[in-house]
Amino acid sequence: KKIKVFAPATVANVACGYDVLGFAIDSPGDEVVVELKDEPGVEIVAITGDGGKLPTDTTSNTAGVAMQQLIKKTDYEGGAKVWLHKKMPLGSGLGSSAASSAAGAFAMNQLLDKPFTSAELVPFAMEGERLACGAAHADNVAPALMGGFVLIRSYAPLDIVPIDTPESLYCTVIHPQIEVATKDARQILKKDIPLTDAVTQWGNVAGLIAGLYRKDYGLISRSLQDVVIEPVRSLLIPSFGEIKAASLKAGALGCGISGSGPSIFSLCQHQEVALEIAHIQAKIFADMGVTSETYTSAI
Ligand code: HSE
Repeated sequence: KKIKVFAPATVANVACGYDVLGFAIDSPGDEVVVELKDEPGVEIVAITGDGGKLPTDTTSNTAGVAMQQLIKKTDYEGGAKVWLHKKMPLGSGLGSSAASSAAGAFAMNQLLDKPFTSAELVPFAMEGERLACGAAHADNVAPALMGGFVLIRSYAPLDIVPIDTPESLYCTVIHPQIEVATKDARQILKKDIPLTDAVTQWGNVAGLIAGLYRKDYGLISRSLQDVVIEPVRSLLIPSFGEIKAASLKAGALGCGISGSGPSIFSLCQHQEVALEIAHIQAKIFADMGVTSETYTSAI
C-alpha cells in the first residue's frame, strides 16, 4: 500500500497567541509519499528540495519521528518507506518541520486504515517539533493536520479547539531569504513578562477569537497586536517595522511575525488588499536587496 499526501504551511502565533494560535494556508506545503513494508522500522528513502540539509536518519527526521510515534501506539508490526518532497523553505517561520511531521503522521494513519482522528494525530506530530526545536509546540502541527484556524487551549492535557473564521479573510505571507532557527528565536525570548503586558496580551487573544466569531473586522484588527514576543523577535527581521507600517497603511487588518520568523503575515478582509500588500512588501525587501517570496491564500 502506498499513498501521497500534502501538508500545508501554517502561520503560528497569529500575533498575540504565542504557542496557542495557528492557521493553515493553501500553499506552499510538503509532499510525502509513504509505502508500507513488511519489515519493521521507518526508512527515509529520499528527501528532495531541502538542499541536502535534512537528515535521512529516521530518528533525526521530523516525519520519521512522528511516524514512529504513531506506529508505537498501534499493533502494526510492519514498517514504512518514506519519500519526502520539501516544497517550502526551511527555517522560514512557515511551519516547515511541522508540515513534514504532519504529512508523515497523516499518511501513516491513512495506510493503517485510520486508527486515529486528525486531532489525535497532533501529539505524534508534536514529537517532530520537539526534535526540530526542542519544544513540542502544537500551533503549527495542529492547523497543518486539522486545517483552518485552531486554538491550543491547553497543552496538559492537550485541548485543541477549531476556530470559525469569517468567510472573507485572506492572508499574505512574505518570506525574505534569510533563515531564522526556531530554537534560537525561542531562546532569546524573556522568560518572565510584566503583568501589565500579560493583561494586554490575553485581552488581545480573547478579542481576536471574539472578533473572528462575530465577523467583527474592527475587533480582529485591534486585537492583532503582540506586546510580548514581537518586540524581541522583530529585531531579527530587517525592515520589519517598515513592512508592518506599510501593510497597515495599505489596509491590512494586522501584520506580525509568522511563527518564529523571518516570514511576516498580514491578515486582510479582501483578497485584492492582500495581493496589493504582497506587492508592496516585496518591493520594500527588493529595495533593500533582499529576495523574497509571497503567498496569498484564503483562510
Ligand atoms: N509558537 C512557535 C514559536 C511557532 O513561536 O516559537 C514556531 O513556528
